[in-house]
Amino acid sequence: MPALPALPAPPPLTVGLVGAGGMARAHAPAWRALGTELVVHSVDGAAELAAAHDGRVAASFDELLDVVDVVDVVTPTPTHLEVASAALAAGRHVLCEKPLGRTAADALALLEAARAADRQLYPGHVVRYFPEYALMRAAVHAGEIGTPAVLRFARGGAFPSWSPWFADDARSGGVVLDLMVHDLDVARWVAGEVTSVFATRRSLEEDGAPHTLAHVVLTHAGGAITHVRGLWGAPHTAFRTSFHVAGDAGVLRFDSATSGGVRSDLPPVPTGGLARPAPAAGESPYLTEIRELARAFAASPTALPADHPLRPRVSALDGVVAVELAEAALTSIDAGEPVAVDTAARVRELGGTPHPPPDTPALAAAGSPV
Ligand SMILES: NC(=O)c1ccc[n+]([C@@H]2O[C@H](COP(=O)([O-])OP(=O)(O)OC[C@H]3O[C@@H](n4cnc5c(N)ncnc54)[C@H](O)[C@@H]3O)[C@@H](O)[C@H]2O)c1
Repeated sequence: MPALPALPAPPPLTVGLVGAGGMARAHAPAWRALGTELVVHSVDGAAELAAAHDGRVAASFDELLDVVDVVDVVTPTPTHLEVASAALAAGRHVLCEKPLGRTAADALALLEAARAADRQLYPGHVVRYFPEYALMRAAVHAGEIGTPAVLRFARGGAFPSWSPWFADDARSGGVVLDLMVHDLDVARWVAGEVTSVFATRRSLEEDGAPHTLAHVVLTHAGGAITHVRGLWGAPHTAFRTSFHVAGDAGVLRFDSATSGGVRSDLPPVPTGGLARPAPAAGESPYLTEIRELARAFAASPTALPADHPLRPRVSALDGVVAVELAEAALTSIDAGEPVAVDTAARVRELGGTPHPPPDTPALAAAGSPV
């Protein structure tokens, strides 16, 4: 009997990249590494991007919508609402780069559009996929630092000059929305819901080049305090991120400038502790992110239920709350005083489950009085 032909592989996703700038160049190789077919539509740069990644160019956005399963929105922030809502209305799943919307109202409209269309929508909060940040969060939630007390995050680099829209606060939201939204999201993911936001920002021009430095302080419902520092600095400033997360039983530290993974100052942990993250020599976090989202997209033509095993670690609701925190920070900058928020109530109001403050199972198991 002749051998039966091998069963065909399940059809891979066809993904439409809308935009062909900096982030499209970060996403395209990740999609291709997963065997995805790429179709590109952009105001400019589509032909070059498609040629570099074995993709093809769609003559129009509508033509792209006709042939893809997923739309990856990598356009400037003020266009996210229009592009992503059209994709959802056409019945496509969407990965939308962070921030989910230029305003909290835009982000909320996208969450509602995804629900109305019964399609999956995820914001590109890639920092949740950096191994150092993911393992820090796992260690905190395993109780390794005890009760979190003070979290410090810093992120900064040269003022973004590759596209003019970044320098226009009305379009980008400035350093707070464009850059610090990453750490505002991670802080809530690690230390739980937020009750107060205080922020300051200083902008100046030096040698004709703009600089902006901002600080945001979050008070968490569980009592921890987060400080986030964001810098768009001088042209020579190397991009650098760091965290220093302290609890009553120890500290976890990371600095991208010194690498070497997460450093810990911890006593022996009764559970034996978690493996420490390796130095940042692994795969691109964009690939880790896109693989997790691609599995979710491939799992269902509709939205995934909350308890689905392939639900990604980030949701559209997280994207909305991150933009709301950034907006609260901008309100605080204008007012010069703290802004009260209640993200737990907000998450419930939007039909989600608030992040609990990290508990301390290891200490509880050891009978610690804390
Ligand atoms: N996750 C991260 O680490 C990260 C880093 C940088 C930027 N971002 C975000 O990614 C998004 C894109 O940033 P970028 O640096 O790639 O911007 P960019 O300016 O480099 O690229 C934008 C691209 O979109 C195209 N474009 C503009 N309007 C369009 C429209 N209406 N339809 C189709 N194409 C359009 C432009 O021609 C360009 O190719 C922004 O929201 C930004 O905040 C995320």
